[in-house]
Amino acid sequence: MNRYSAVITGVGGYIPEYVLTNQELEQMVDTSDEWITARTGIKERRLLKGDAQGTSVLAVKAIQELLQKTDTDPKEVDMIICATVTPDLCFPATANIIGAEIGATNAFSYDLQAACSGFLYGLVTGAQFIETGRYRKVIVVGGDKMSSIIDYEDRATCIIFGDGAGAILLERGEEGFGFRDSVLRSDGSGEQHLYMPAGGSRKPPSVETVQNKEHFVIQNGLPVFKAAVKNMAASAVELMERNQLTADDISYLVPHQANLRIIKATAQSMGISDDKVLVNIQRYGNTTGGTLPLCLWDYEKQLKKGDNIIFAAFGGGFTWGAAYFKWAY
Ligand code: UT7
Repeated sequence: MNRYSAVITGVGGYIPEYVLTNQELEQMVDTSDEWITARTGIKERRLLKGDAQGTSVLAVKAIQELLQKTDTDPKEVDMIICATVTPDLCFPATANIIGAEIGATNAFSYDLQAACSGFLYGLVTGAQFIETGRYRKVIVVGGDKMSSIIDYEDRATCIIFGDGAGAILLERGEEGFGFRDSVLRSDGSGEQHLYMPAGGSRKPPSVETVQNKEHFVIQNGLPVFKAAVKNMAASAVELMERNQLTADDISYLVPHQANLRIIKATAQSMGISDDKVLVNIQRYGNTTGGTLPLCLWDYEKQLKKGDNIIFAAFGGGFTWGAAYFKWAY
């Protein structure tokens, strides 16, 4: 029996200034605004420019806004989970770097790597530490500087991804609110469809790996698309059935923003109408760890206490799942 309810008490976000439009991409690769819009729903994405700017820059700005909005002293923060596939360094963890930057001197922190499902996994993980009573203030931040691992000569990937970060604070809350349930899965046999070939221990960086462009994202779009449609929908539907939620009971779906067609297919399987689906892919593209919290950030004012929110995500790994929260403010 859990002793406490783990509720989200605030949201912060940050997107970098530089806007990479479909029109600019038309000048870079053989593509068109029409194709990108029709196949993905994306119109523009943001890029973090400048030397020595890592994912922590995005995450710190998102968390600083979160701390200010929730009137939280960074010294009170117990724990920081950072979901990212583009850490500042292989080690130490980006979460540690973030903790030092924001002055969370009493926290422990670590990175969680589950690609586009990273924030979802982090949200569920963080909630457990609140529910057990072990900690009182947990920050979950999801963010990526995808532009650092994208080949801007590869039209299959460069049109999709963008940079950005979002963060939420988890605290003890009123009974019956906050985290309710989750369905999380992974399947490593999907590895070859979405991955970065070199830079890890299996194939450390070398002149050859750089020349062969092996430090960029490789995506085999169609199998990823099919698996995303199937599994995001299946986990969300499983969650609904297990919690006796009908489509009418659901206030909003907060889906990973990878492709508008995947989002629509998921909503359709759940039986929910378009007005209940939170979408911002047109402005940010796929920010990987950042999509779910940035979606909350954009729509925060619209959410009401008691709303039933379903988060759903799918990503490299493969990783996927869904989580059910009752909004607490
Ligand atoms: O967030 C992590 C999980 N990732 C995802 O969920 C992404 C899942 N996959 C997708 O969203 C889609 O597969 C893509 C958006 C990546 C691609 O869309 P698609 O409808 O699956 O296109 P496709 O790869 O099947 O390609 C269709 C055609 C091909 O031409 P042919 O062979 O039919 O002549 C491609 O060469 O479109 C062509 N194409 C493009 N054309 C213009 C591929 N990329 C582009 C492009 N611009 N950027």
